[in-house]
Amino acid sequence: MKVTVVGAGAVGASCAEYIAMKNFAAEVVLLDIKEGYAEGKAMDLMQTASLNGFDTKITGSTNDYSKTAGSDIAVITSGIPRKPGMTREELIGINAGIVKTVATSLLEHSPNVTIIVVSNPMDTMTYLVHKATGLPKNKIIGMGGALDSARFKYRLAQALEAPISDVDGMVIGGHSDKGMVPLIGHATRNSVKVSEFLSEEKMNWVVEETKVGGATLTGLLGTSAWYAPGAAVSGLVQAIACDQKKMFPCSTLLEGEYGLDDICIGVPVILGKDGIEKIVEIELSDAEKAKMQESAEGVKKTNGLLEV
Ligand code: NAI
Repeated sequence: MKVTVVGAGAVGASCAEYIAMKNFAAEVVLLDIKEGYAEGKAMDLMQTASLNGFDTKITGSTNDYSKTAGSDIAVITSGIPRKPGMTREELIGINAGIVKTVATSLLEHSPNVTIIVVSNPMDTMTYLVHKATGLPKNKIIGMGGALDSARFKYRLAQALEAPISDVDGMVIGGHSDKGMVPLIGHATRNSVKVSEFLSEEKMNWVVEETKVGGATLTGLLGTSAWYAPGAAVSGLVQAIACDQKKMFPCSTLLEGEYGLDDICIGVPVILGKDGIEKIVEIELSDAEKAKMQESAEGVKKTNGLLEV
């Protein structure tokens, strides 16, 4: 199993580290446009191998896509992250050009690759990869919901004063502060709906803190987060590489599912060796359906800014 990670910055390097630590991939190639940067990150990470006990071989490359040839999975994290006060949508001008070039370069050397898109605005970048590559829809996956759901579970556990492993929940919709749809009505603590334990006010707090989860961290760090994004990406990579048939909310091209068409947006999918093996249509309340529609309108508006 060969995995390429484009962008050896904060998220790319974190994701490469988690993949290596889980020890399921033979090879990880880190690629960056900055001279020597990916090579440096790869060398530093390889020097953790004997300490952390993994055998994955990590190599770095400065923009030489021949080194990525034959990749099974590629992760695109290249581009700029947001600064405090910025929305993810504001990144489109710079990131669209980068993501388009990166996706086509990857495909030239790995025609059978499955691409995981991380760069923001992620739903629109995922849609752009569809338009730019023509890859089958099961092979293009946007990562956002897996991270947002992890942040949702973190806040749920805080509100419930429960261990994280006791809570479950999912965030669907667009990967943006306004577009996220945390499914609080479906969230559980040990299989019991959280509405049994939490007041309306507490549940609203969980939802609102989840939606601004990225912005909260950007305010604290001065740039966007990397540990949880890297871990979330590594989870998707592992589900595909190890054919786990695991469910994650991911951005995928919808063709009628959830009443939506010609849009990439977060919905639950099953990930296995063929990438997105199934889109799961869960029962939504009327309020959740309305939020999903509103979220889709926001994503479509951003898609309208693309020049494809
Ligand atoms: P970063 O600035 O630390 O790293 C980005 C890297 O991309 C840099 O090393 C840069 O040299 C490289 N790069 C730029 N243009 C390139 C090109 N044409 N080819 C190859 N490499 C290139 O940024 P960070 O924090 O790693 O974030 C990366 C992206 O991921 C941002 O767009 C950010 O908004 C997004 N993000 C998405 C998340 C999600 O849930 N979907 C979560 C966190 C970040």
